[in-house]
Amino acid sequence: MDSKEITKAANLLREGKLVALPTETVYGLGADASNRSALELLYRIKGRPTSHPVIVHLHDEQQLKHWAIDIPDRVWLLADAFWPGPLTMVLKRADSVLDQVTGGQDTVALRIPNHPVALALLKEFGAGIAAPSANRFGRLSPTKADDVRKDLGEDVSLVLNGGDCLVGIESTIVDLSSENIRILRPGMILASEIESVLSEPVSAHNAADSHKSDSPRTSGSLPSHYAPKTPVQIVSSDGLQERVSTTKEEKVSVLSFRSSLVDGSVTPWIVAPEDASEYARCLYSNLRILDSMNTDLILVEAAPVSEEWNGVRDRLSRAAHSTQHSKH
Ligand code: TXA
Ligand code: MG
Repeated sequence: MDSKEITKAANLLREGKLVALPTETVYGLGADASNRSALELLYRIKGRPTSHPVIVHLHDEQQLKHWAIDIPDRVWLLADAFWPGPLTMVLKRADSVLDQVTGGQDTVALRIPNHPVALALLKEFGAGIAAPSANRFGRLSPTKADDVRKDLGEDVSLVLNGGDCLVGIESTIVDLSSENIRILRPGMILASEIESVLSEPVSAHNAADSHKSDSPRTSGSLPSHYAPKTPVQIVSSDGLQERVSTTKEEKVSVLSFRSSLVDGSVTPWIVAPEDASEYARCLYSNLRILDSMNTDLILVEAAPVSEEWNGVRDRLSRAAHSTQHSKH
């Protein structure tokens, strides 16, 4: 990427404007994390309630001390193992951190992304960039620069094009602000990988926990998140073919590990990769494609029940959850 483009982006951030940036997970909508009015603009454009905290993106580990206090040793171990990369750490906030970043909580979420364009911008800007996924609240996260433009239009001053995101779903969020280490949002860095670096137990993400009042608010933990406009239903592998052939009035589209067994079927059908990382990488673009087919329903074949699929299963169940609710 042209260094002039990076300089321009950094200057826009300094002026309190919003810049969309590629990361390895999904595109982020960036704002100066130390500028109150830039953060207010960010919430307004995203259409997100101000009580929901955002992740602050950093260039290097030295910057951690500006944002967090009481940093336990395990943070440095995880930083060495996984940063830059798709891991967000929730730590005790420093006093100077704005409430607009933390949603008024006493913790702050931090991450060093692994994307050359994001890192170049972070270096040039020289400070923390608050960046939620660059989509309107409740919609699918963008994994291409084009997705951002389609969703946010002229509301974002600049979209840095860094190609397609290689991880494809949002970072794993781990809470290190207390003794009990917990996964708040599963992603492609697994609880078992964190455990093996720390040689300590990590409480895995439990969907039921996200609704308890004492758990930190994560807007990703609202069930209606990550949803296409078309309702989504998860179907077991065994039941899929029958479900498709028995839909009469409904027009459906399908995301499945297998190709259609119905000859000459006109059902829009995407064959998904069997590898979890590959599946995650193209999950949102696959859902976007099916969402654009104007069907009544998107049927998704259930993903395998194993740890490496936790992040994918989490995003699929959220997409499907909003479906159940919109029916009532
Ligand atoms: O991969 C990612 O994490 C992407 C890219 C752009 O870095 N960002 C992203 O941001 O997914 P967003 O805002 O869509 O999701 C951030 C999640 C939310 O669920 C938010 O509530 C949670 O992080 N979060 C932020 N600060 C937190 C805190 N102090 N405690 C607990 N959760 C927090
Ligand atoms: Mg998001």
